[in-house]
Amino acid sequence: MKKITVAIDGYSSSGKSTMAKALARAVGYAYIDSGAMYRAVTLYAMRHGLINADGRPDEAALAAVLPGIHIDFRVPAGGGASHTFLNGEDVEAQIRSLEVSSHVSPVAALPEVRHALTCLQREYGKAKGIVMDGRDIGTTVFPDAEMKVFVDATPEERARRRFRELTEKGDSGVTYDQVLANVLERDEIDRTRKESPLRQADDAVVLCNDAMTADEQDRWMLDLFHKRTAE
Ligand code: DC
Repeated sequence: MKKITVAIDGYSSSGKSTMAKALARAVGYAYIDSGAMYRAVTLYAMRHGLINADGRPDEAALAAVLPGIHIDFRVPAGGGASHTFLNGEDVEAQIRSLEVSSHVSPVAALPEVRHALTCLQREYGKAKGIVMDGRDIGTTVFPDAEMKVFVDATPEERARRRFRELTEKGDSGVTYDQVLANVLERDEIDRTRKESPLRQADDAVVLCNDAMTADEQDRWMLDLFHKRTAE
C-alpha cells in the first residue's frame, strides 16, 4: 500500500493528538506532535528569562538562541509512547503545564520560531508514512498531504477535556475557568497571527467531535485513511 502524509489540524484540546496517535498506531505510521515542539521552545524561553514581564517573548534574543535548541522525540527507558526531549532532557511533563500553555501562543507566533520548526517538521515528513498534528500542518508544513483533517469542538468542551487531563495528572492548582480562559486566548492568538494562522485548508475534511466517542473518532479517521490510500 502506498505511504501517505496525514495532516491533522485544529483548535487546542480538540482531541487531535489522541486521534492522530491512535491512527498512527493502527496503521504503523510515525506520529509527530508539532505542538510539543512549540511548547519545548517556550519552556526553553521561560527557563532562560526570554519571556518579558508582560508575557511577550524577547524575539531577538530567542531568535539568536534557536540554533542551540534541539528537540527530538524518544521512547523513554521504560517503553510506551514517545516523549519530547529538549537538548537531551525529557520534558514531556513540563511542557504540558498550564504555565507553558499560557506562554506558548505568543512564542508560536514568532516567524523565526515557525521557520525553524517548520523545517524540522518537513525533515520528519520526508519519508512519508507520518501522522502530524498541529495548526498549520495542512496549510503550510505539508500543503500536499494526501489526507487532511480539521478537528473542531466548542471551547467549553475543549476546556473540559483539558481540565480533566490536568487534574488527572495531579495539577490541582488550576480551575476550569482558568483553563477555559486559556483555551479562548490561545484560539484568538493562533487564529489572528500573521504567520501561518490557524485555518482550515481548502481541501481538509472537517470533523466536529463534540458528541463523538473516542472509538467513533478513531473509526472515522481510519475510514478516511483507507479511502485516501486507495485513491
Ligand atoms: O496543540 P498544542 O496545544 O500542544 O499546541 C501548543 C501551541 O503551539 C498552540 O497554542 C499553538 C501552537 N502551535 C502552532 O502554532 N502550530 C502548530 N503546528 C502546532 C502548535
